[in-house]
Amino acid sequence: MARSRANGCRGDGRLAYGTGVDPIAPPFPRDLGVVGAGRVGLALAALAEHAGIDVQVAASREPERIRAQVHAAAPGAHAATVEQVARSQVVVLALPLGKVRTLDAAMFNGVLVVDATNYWWELDGHLPQFEDLATSSSEQVQLLLPGARVVKSLNHLSAYALEELARPRGVADRLAVAVAGDHEADLRAVSALVDRLGFDPIAAGPLAEGMRFEPQTELFGADADAQEAREILDRFWDSQRGRVVGRARSREG
Ligand SMILES: NC(=O)c1ccc[n+]([C@@H]2O[C@H](COP(=O)([O-])OP(=O)(O)OC[C@H]3O[C@@H](n4cnc5c(N)ncnc54)[C@H](OP(=O)(O)O)[C@@H]3O)[C@@H](O)[C@H]2O)c1
Repeated sequence: MARSRANGCRGDGRLAYGTGVDPIAPPFPRDLGVVGAGRVGLALAALAEHAGIDVQVAASREPERIRAQVHAAAPGAHAATVEQVARSQVVVLALPLGKVRTLDAAMFNGVLVVDATNYWWELDGHLPQFEDLATSSSEQVQLLLPGARVVKSLNHLSAYALEELARPRGVADRLAVAVAGDHEADLRAVSALVDRLGFDPIAAGPLAEGMRFEPQTELFGADADAQEAREILDRFWDSQRGRVVGRARSREG
């Protein structure tokens, strides 16, 4: 199902806006910070730029050392420091999960943070707090960034799907992206962002429910539309992974 992003764009290269979902006015967000200039960070930067959002991208390296790759992926986006990126209206975490603990948490106080990370022990090393199935990885991120308002989203599609399969609202084969968070206003805000980037946002409940679209779940890596994604999320607790998580939670509870 190779689909060109150009199919979903207006003539000027920006995703067309549909109608029907309450927009957060004025168009939200006006700017986006991305921590991580790898596959997913640059894919999201490109999508946001196409959607008319001002984008800043940071990595662990100095901005000069990522400027060329940021420019190649999203010519209007800016390479920046993490501190500069953290001043954006919304910040997406697109760095290895094991590196979140290296961030200066104070920079994210009061910031709406979208956690697009996943725990891969092969890459991150064994990190016990992320192997505790009683909590979702995003709840652990929230503990690492206690002053931030963390919402889990944009983690379960591949970078390829993010790069190639964004579509305007209303297009039949538009993919869904789950959104989980503890505050209604933040869920609405991140849903508006997801919609603007070219995907149907699916409300998945509080941050603990981010578990339902982590690695090893049916939705993870699946190119599902809104109805399919809803059904997959709804049957999570009957899945093998859901039963394992349920047992872990009942032991802790
Ligand atoms: N790849 C996918 O298909 C995909 C899809 C959805 C979600 N995700 C998740 O997104 C996260 C990133 O994946 P990726 O594939 O994009 O990784 P990647 O290509 O390896 O890129 C990681 C980026 O994070 C930056 N980084 C590392 N430590 C940092 C720090 N302390 N502060 C700021 N930036 C730092 C790196 O910058 P330096 O090189 O300067 O260190 C690099 O730009 C992972 O948790 C992954 O599970 C990946």
